[in-house]
Amino acid sequence: MQRLARRWQRRGVRIGFVPTMGYLHEGHISLVRRARQAVGRSGLVVVSIYVNPTQFGPQEDLKKYPRDLKRDKQLCRAAGVDVVFVPSDDEMYPPGMTKGFSTWVGEERLSREMEGRSRPTHFRGVTTVVAKLFNIVLPDVAVFGAKDWQQAAIVRRIVRDLSFPVKIIVASTRREPDGLAMSSRNKYLVGDLRGQAVVLWRAVRRAQALVRAARRPVESARLKSELKSFIERQPDARVDYVEFFHPETLQTAGKVGRGTHMALAVFVGRTRLIDNGRM
Ligand code: PAJ
Repeated sequence: MQRLARRWQRRGVRIGFVPTMGYLHEGHISLVRRARQAVGRSGLVVVSIYVNPTQFGPQEDLKKYPRDLKRDKQLCRAAGVDVVFVPSDDEMYPPGMTKGFSTWVGEERLSREMEGRSRPTHFRGVTTVVAKLFNIVLPDVAVFGAKDWQQAAIVRRIVRDLSFPVKIIVASTRREPDGLAMSSRNKYLVGDLRGQAVVLWRAVRRAQALVRAARRPVESARLKSELKSFIERQPDARVDYVEFFHPETLQTAGKVGRGTHMALAVFVGRTRLIDNGRM
């Protein structure tokens, strides 16, 4: 992959890149379209599919993370992807990890709260694999989804801090007709859990309505507890966090007004889902 990318680069071909963990859905495909738009018809669009073990915690769903490479390749072909890069674990990390790998890329400020608090080693895994993928695919442009708001902010930061020669585009979240953010993990939502899962988006909408109706900024503590009880009215929903913050710096907001960003993580049954939105 790196050799190919070097060759394209030498010929002046622009490379658009969409990193994924596969089990692709319309959200991923919308990023592919965005990448195509950015590099044009003379450019090349690369999608990577790699379930990156270093971003999963020991108790998380690495082993059962959904996979369907055949279908993913078909979707990529239909979407006009030029190259699907599917590295094996052995290509990305030495076997067993412990002896042969000791260099990590870690962002130390934006990664602390929210996902970083609930999943302490998650972002270190994400930033390390993203740095590796950038070094392998050598993209001019890479597209990330607003669905993972904190991840996108952190990727922007490492690109700036470490001078990666890549432009980051963040594309809006694709949703099911009822508002549920598309996610590979929605596959886990069987029976009436699927219906309950829409409560994340409903909570964002509810917060937006409350904030917009108020004449002054609203105490975030009050909103959080109101939203927690709203969400947990669903029999199988348990809030991990609801947070309000500045959309770029991710600085926690004590008062919530228009433009403040909200993110939340909720267990619906055993499935942990995330969503976010601007107030
Ligand atoms: P994955 O969850 O497969 O997501 C790949 C990309 O698709 C991410 O940028 C994510 O934000 C975006 N995405 C997911 N659901 C979306 C939706 N409903 N609408 C728009 N975009 C959506 O995020 C990862 O993989 C990994 O952490 C990765 C960056 C590949 C590193 O391993």
